[in-house]
Amino acid sequence: MFTSNPLTGSKTEQYDQLIAQCEALLHGERHRVANAANISALLFNSLGDVNWLGFYFLEQGELIVGPFQGLPACVRIALGKGVCGTAAASRETQLVPDVHAFPGHIACDSASQSEIVVPLIKNGELIGVLDVDSPVLDRFDTTDKAAFERIAELFCNGSD
Ligand code: SME
Repeated sequence: MFTSNPLTGSKTEQYDQLIAQCEALLHGERHRVANAANISALLFNSLGDVNWLGFYFLEQGELIVGPFQGLPACVRIALGKGVCGTAAASRETQLVPDVHAFPGHIACDSASQSEIVVPLIKNGELIGVLDVDSPVLDRFDTTDKAAFERIAELFCNGSD
């Protein structure tokens, strides 16, 4: 049974605890979908002001929705399209304080106001993205960015 430990301390300290929980979840299991499902559940239930959080995986040149928490989402996203496709094509994290100001943003949940998308790079290859949406404008900062990038790295290293 999973016991959730409330996060305490500063934002950085809370992320340190969350990252340790991610490491514990990934320990001893390398199945990509299973790990994505558990990481999504952990993060979604630990973070405040998040309405959608999950994975898209690259398959045959497009992003296909994977395990996530939140409302049903767009299934397929072309590389270069939306925030997810931009993160995938550029291989750079997209930190979007106001999704309505992002050209080509794809609205899956009308509640989303800000978003961060981190590319998943495994052994130098793009395998997908980690997408986090918030109903609050400007929800994510460089501390969130660093933490999600670390979690993405842990996921890629810990999953086949
Ligand atoms: N907003 C994303 C689409 C995915 S949903 O947010 C779950 C985008 O613009 O790529």
